[in-house]
Amino acid sequence: NKARVVVDKAFRIAEVDKRIYGSFIEHLGRAVYGGIYDPSHPETDSLGFREDVKQLVQELGVPIIRYPGGNFVSGYNWEDGVGPRESRPRRLELAWRTVEPNEVGTNEFMAWAKEIGSEVMMAVNLGTRGVDAARNLLEYCNHPSGSYWSDLRRSHGYDQPHKVKTWCLGNEMDGPWQIGQKTPQEYGRLAYETGKAMKLVDPDIELVSCGSSSTGMPTFPEWEAITLDHTYDVADFVSLHQYYGNRDGDSANFLARTMDMDHFIRTVISTCDYVKAKKRSKKTMYLSFDEWNVWYHSNDADTKIDPWTVGPPQLEDVYNFEDALLVGGMLITFLKHADRVKMACLAQLVNVIAPIMTETGGRSWKQTIFYPYLHASRYGRGVSLQPIVDSPKYDAQDYTDVPYLETAVVYNEEEEELTIFALNRHLEEALDVECDVRGFEGYQIAEHIVLENDDLKAVNTAAEENVKPHSHGSAALKDGFVSTRLSKASWNVIRLK
Ligand code: AHR
Repeated sequence: NKARVVVDKAFRIAEVDKRIYGSFIEHLGRAVYGGIYDPSHPETDSLGFREDVKQLVQELGVPIIRYPGGNFVSGYNWEDGVGPRESRPRRLELAWRTVEPNEVGTNEFMAWAKEIGSEVMMAVNLGTRGVDAARNLLEYCNHPSGSYWSDLRRSHGYDQPHKVKTWCLGNEMDGPWQIGQKTPQEYGRLAYETGKAMKLVDPDIELVSCGSSSTGMPTFPEWEAITLDHTYDVADFVSLHQYYGNRDGDSANFLARTMDMDHFIRTVISTCDYVKAKKRSKKTMYLSFDEWNVWYHSNDADTKIDPWTVGPPQLEDVYNFEDALLVGGMLITFLKHADRVKMACLAQLVNVIAPIMTETGGRSWKQTIFYPYLHASRYGRGVSLQPIVDSPKYDAQDYTDVPYLETAVVYNEEEEELTIFALNRHLEEALDVECDVRGFEGYQIAEHIVLENDDLKAVNTAAEENVKPHSHGSAALKDGFVSTRLSKASWNVIRLK
């Protein structure tokens, strides 16, 4: 059981856009109320945001955060969330059937993101609203002063424009669950006209056109072909969303799900390039994988939640060790497509299908998936190199020829650091790996981080951290070759300097 890998500086895929390590905060469950914002907690800032949560988000180094939804945005009136807090309305929130108190809105969220050092990817409502609300929100956020909406922002205490660069033209508009679902023709026209008006307000923004909600949608990839036909000239990105689960307890198949993700990315790239050719365009469309994660553990519990409360515990997946392995594999998949996937958002960030959990008013902790995300965000910056991989393979329920070894390599030229991310999908056996790094003369092994556990179902709780990485991996370097034995079912980060 041995895999061979060749890595060389010359095999460049592309510079990694750090925004692939983005995440997502939606007004959903306890993401905002009881998550990032919790006036009942002993340590908050003057706006009511929790300090411990800020620190955990900062530790992850999240470069961009999508906000305020998700399905939520398709029924959201952004005006409800600005101005004096005491006069903001409480609304029925139809996407998740809760009550939205509007204590947190655009300005508070922008202030929070600024403090933790993250950009915001703002979404506009193309479900119940359209061109007018979108251009007004953009004017409110980005125009310096001297106009109705920009002066309103200033009167709300935010003198300087927020300068939000990235904007999503709606959310999952292909989904029957979406408030104001559209046909591809309807969405394409509306998104184009909205984008056109928005770029008149601020030509420096970047726009994301809605792609399919998953590979399983009946309209995929026709949706992309039709909508991009309308939005190609105004959009800079097309979105992809995908969640996986291990409902039937087949872990070998579950860990192979990155093959589906890879296929999704390739299909969307082909569709974008088809539209490009059709339009005789010189512009390349990039991919924003702005919702991705494991999501299934909480599905049953969510059917039992009473409607019309503020911040109920929705989508609170408790992640296990194998989920962390798949999350690592998904991050590797982005790195392998660094030339086209320029943004991605782990959905979501706090409490709702999230790496960070909190007790309302109490403790916070790291879920298992926190770690691969942290490692990729911290060490996966630089140039993504194409490793040449020869790995033993297996057949799973839905996939054939699944390599046991999944790997991506990032070369940080500035720091003179090379990082090999490696997932051993074998559930019973260790995997010997030999990696040719002769092109990196003078480099030494700096660290071999390993996330491993005998129990694929092990979880972390507020009281116990059962799944956490150690730095005692076996990687050794001799004569330009790294050799190591990767433990069965393990996530590895081998750092050379
Ligand atoms: O992230 C949870 C939900 O998943 C989002 O609101 C929606 O866009 C997707 O269906």
